[in-house]
Amino acid sequence: MTKYLVTGCAGFIGSWITQTLIQRGETVRGFDNFETGRKQNLSGLLDHFEFIQGDLRNAGAVARACEGIDIIFHQGALPSVPRSVKDPRTSHTANIDGTFNVLEGARAAGVRRIIYAASSSAYGNQPGFPRIETMVPMPIAPYPVQKMAGELYMRSYWQIYGLETVCLRYFNIFGPRQDPNSPYSGVMAKFALLMLRGERPTIFGDGEQGRDFTYVENAVSANLLAAAAPAEKVAGRVFNVACGQRHTLNKTYQILSELTGYTHPPIYGPPRTGDIQDSLADITAAREAFGYEPLVSFEEGLRRTVEWYKQEMHRAQPPASS
Ligand code: UD1
Repeated sequence: MTKYLVTGCAGFIGSWITQTLIQRGETVRGFDNFETGRKQNLSGLLDHFEFIQGDLRNAGAVARACEGIDIIFHQGALPSVPRSVKDPRTSHTANIDGTFNVLEGARAAGVRRIIYAASSSAYGNQPGFPRIETMVPMPIAPYPVQKMAGELYMRSYWQIYGLETVCLRYFNIFGPRQDPNSPYSGVMAKFALLMLRGERPTIFGDGEQGRDFTYVENAVSANLLAAAAPAEKVAGRVFNVACGQRHTLNKTYQILSELTGYTHPPIYGPPRTGDIQDSLADITAAREAFGYEPLVSFEEGLRRTVEWYKQEMHRAQPPASS
């Protein structure tokens, strides 16, 4: 029976992968240090999988977590471009040393395959849309450099050691469980919560920057398909995971306003250091290699996301009983 390890299992995407594997009746082990992952993301799940609290920077703990595992979904990381700009060393150790520890642990334990959470930020600001995997990566800020280094390591371990590694370049994944409360939170989570609270979000720059926003269920499905695909189609390769549509921040703000009932215009601030301007993916490679198709549209994803944050707010502040 296949045994799965999910690093970052208490995080936004990791917890969805963990939950989906459990629902499929799979045997799952999860690894998280709760630095950015949250216990509440695992509520209702902890009795159904083996959880190890540990840090990716601890090579011994990672090696133990890899024992007896067939397939790893390596989602654990310290995300965020601005976090990496402010404190590159901390994100470097989590993202590069952490990924190296996963590869070494996997090699020692005889793990068959690793699906790695790579980042579309690797493309940087080079000309040419949509982004296609054959483009030369041009990462700008430390975080994309770190994620890109992980990709190179993944490919190396396939070529040198025959460990089947697959890199999925995520394009702005959003959805329920994305933490809205950190200064480094993704824009969708932040804006949804602020609007629901009646607080005014700030758009960095003129709002005409675009992103290929992708609902989390699409990313989960890409991971599971990549895990099940024949090695000759996926091993040592990189794939975009996106919807193949670009949405500006201004337009996204407008749709979120309608969904939340928020009526005020945004505040505009200076552009954020290290940001890319635009992002739009070609998803043909993933489609052809493992049958990936976006399952949930941008609009439907936004609707589900806003619904979830609404419920979260009610859970956090139960109505006073009369
Ligand atoms: C995001 C991910 C990153 C991933 C990358 C590529 C997060 C936190 N980051 O980076 O892990 O590798 O996509 O998929 O999920 N913005 C505002 N106001 C705010 C916050 C953000 O205007 O309050 C703007 C930013 O300046 C940027 C855009 O929104 O132009 C998106 O920012 P963000 O959600 O942080 O994502 P990325 O930096 O694109």
